[in-house]
Amino acid sequence: MKSYKDGIAYQYLRETKYDRESILRRHDLGQIPRPPAYKTYPEAAKIPLPRSVFGKTKSLWDILDQRRSRRRYAPGPISMTTLSTLLWAIQGITLSARDYQFRTAPSAGALYPVETYLSIHRVSDVKQGMYHFNVLDFALEEIVQGNFGEHLTRAALDQAMVRRGAVLFIWTAIVLRSMSKYRNRCIRYIFMDAGHIGQNLQLAATAMGLGCCPIGAFYDEEINQVLRVDGEEETAIYLAAVGKL
Ligand SMILES: Cc1cc2nc3c(=O)[nH]c(=O)nc-3n(C[C@H](O)[C@H](O)[C@H](O)COP(=O)(O)O)c2cc1C
Repeated sequence: MKSYKDGIAYQYLRETKYDRESILRRHDLGQIPRPPAYKTYPEAAKIPLPRSVFGKTKSLWDILDQRRSRRRYAPGPISMTTLSTLLWAIQGITLSARDYQFRTAPSAGALYPVETYLSIHRVSDVKQGMYHFNVLDFALEEIVQGNFGEHLTRAALDQAMVRRGAVLFIWTAIVLRSMSKYRNRCIRYIFMDAGHIGQNLQLAATAMGLGCCPIGAFYDEEINQVLRVDGEEETAIYLAAVGKL
């Protein structure tokens, strides 16, 4: 690549800019069917999540001041209630209106294209395995049992915090949920959505005295394969390790 302007990053930004003319053509790709708003695994064993517990906590200002990406964790497990509270913090439903359920983190068009999966390594009373977070039912759906820590560490460019963490959060995007409204500009919004979710996780982890580190460096298809998603309509976009300090 000779310069920034020869590459696809620049081309994408340029091609997806709104201006007063392009906004009139924003639906030019024709009708794009919107996939279901919620993904579920109807055949999966389901674990209902306990009610989140909001103990007395530090002030928001202290949490912002103390938030840091932490990569070394103690070997102990986190509790199911702690995990449940983290899940509520990232994608809990906080308002039900007529056609939409709004969540703790904002989402462009309230379309919520980001799905959450968990590789559970050490959570009390939960078997190690890969789980999907069912937002609507506030439950975990078991995809497959086993310890994926080593495998996912390798998939995340050998970053040891992945296996050291009690849980690895894995976020995917169901691209068409957002694309049905925003066409090619949707990629911008999907990553902004993921950023909000990731920040909520780090702030909630900090509030509970846990360590957390976002991870953007990974071999995409290796993560997709573990999750059993196609890497096209649904693809991994972001990870975060969480553990005790
Ligand atoms: C999108 C994104 C991707 C990141 N990917 C990684 C990663 O793969 N490995 C890592 O060790 N840290 C990763 N980080 C953490 C950054 O290194 C960290 O946020 C930065 O050094 C600033 O430190 P702080 O978060 O403690 O303020 C990532 C952070 C973001 C926001």
